[in-house]
Amino acid sequence: MKKAYIETYGCQMNISDSELMAGILAEQGFVSTDTPDDADVILVNTCAIRDHAEQRVIGRVGQLQQFRRGGAVVGVTGCMAQRMGESLLGRAGGVDLVMGPDAYRQLPQKLADVSARRTPPPALPLAHGTHAPQQPRGLTVLGFDPHENYEGVAAKRVSAVSAWVPIQRGCNYRCTYCIVPYVRGDEKNRDPRAILAEVRQLAADGVPEVTLLGQTVNSWEHGDWSFPRLLREVARVDGIRRVRFTSPHPNGFTRELVEVMAAEPAVCRQLHLPVQAGHDRTLKRMLRRYTVAEYLEKIEWVRAAMPGIALSTDVIVAFPGETEEEYEATLELMRHVRYDDAFLYRYSEREGTPATRLPRDQFVPEDIGQARLERLIETHRQIQSEIYHAEVGRVEEVLVEKEGRRGGVQGRTAGNKVVTFDGPASLIGTFAEVRLTGTSGSTFSGELVESAELAEMAA
Ligand code: SF4
Ligand code: F3S
Repeated sequence: MKKAYIETYGCQMNISDSELMAGILAEQGFVSTDTPDDADVILVNTCAIRDHAEQRVIGRVGQLQQFRRGGAVVGVTGCMAQRMGESLLGRAGGVDLVMGPDAYRQLPQKLADVSARRTPPPALPLAHGTHAPQQPRGLTVLGFDPHENYEGVAAKRVSAVSAWVPIQRGCNYRCTYCIVPYVRGDEKNRDPRAILAEVRQLAADGVPEVTLLGQTVNSWEHGDWSFPRLLREVARVDGIRRVRFTSPHPNGFTRELVEVMAAEPAVCRQLHLPVQAGHDRTLKRMLRRYTVAEYLEKIEWVRAAMPGIALSTDVIVAFPGETEEEYEATLELMRHVRYDDAFLYRYSEREGTPATRLPRDQFVPEDIGQARLERLIETHRQIQSEIYHAEVGRVEEVLVEKEGRRGGVQGRTAGNKVVTFDGPASLIGTFAEVRLTGTSGSTFSGELVESAELAEMAA
């Protein structure tokens, strides 16, 4: 049996794509392995959002050369593969296959093509003065397919507790810093019947939590279906006890959506709403299509309808043209909203995106950008730590996901906060009442108060 090893970088969409690839390969008889050592196929599923992430992948492909020379096929897939295309074939010692996010159905065929083109190593030592035959250049499979939604592909999911359910691919926005629309193409929305069938199957398989995924997940629509309607239907599937969705765009985050979130008990009291910057001028240069006031109004709706909801966001600092005043406004917004969690980045220039055409003298020097980022992180960590410390003592319902790294088990609250506590592995996949007893400032430790699972076993 052939073994496939997939290493994933980037966002949840890429994690979900890796599960699709694993499913496509499993149908062809591949088994998944969690180490490249004994793999016949090694795929690195990549992200293009930041230069730093791409450099890391190039370095990683270099490390993987030992397996390639040992006979494994090495492929680079995903957003960076789509962005760099052919040029990746000769990088980091070479790769055999470069494949964009719309081409994964062709994976088995292209892997077979790569193998067929390979020259077997000579059985006898080569005569002096002759050279080993050159391996042919790798294959590229790039470009967009406006209809590819991977309908009918059974994902091979890593978790049996919480499932990613992609409902949309691509993006119709053109935020000026962002590479995603250029590597994933325009928005494509899945049929609601297929989505609901998938969620029902997950529930039947005993998966209690689903996360609906899309680049701008709330812009999903299909015929007369809107995202709030889909969310409501998913939340009402028997057996599904928790529903999350990520990432919504503030534009199109409607009152109707807030009402559905508040009305459906299965929808988690947690929201990731990317703000990116706290000043209207920055937002305008980013082409985010909302103002700070509009964003904050939506935060108010959400907090009024669901008091105590956990909020998280994404922020980019040092976007070209960002003045001290604009940066201070972002800090102020962070202090005002007080996010439970935040993903904070310094602007990374991405070739081909509109922001690269802003006047060069507007680009924020690296040292200033770094200092701004560090101060923002510090501000956020302080707020996050205050929020977490104030929650110690509460009893939360935790969905247990896996064994803890240092013993016990680990799970998440409805607010998406990580809790580790003492308990047997048999709790994995079940809900437990857990008292939060301590915090690192960004995760919790706890003690088990009640578990229906354990009570049943004891009875
Ligand atoms: Fe990128 Fe903007 Fe689309 Fe998000 S909404 S994926 S930031 S272009
Ligand atoms: Fe995700 Fe990175 Fe692609 S953030 S969509 S994997 S560019």
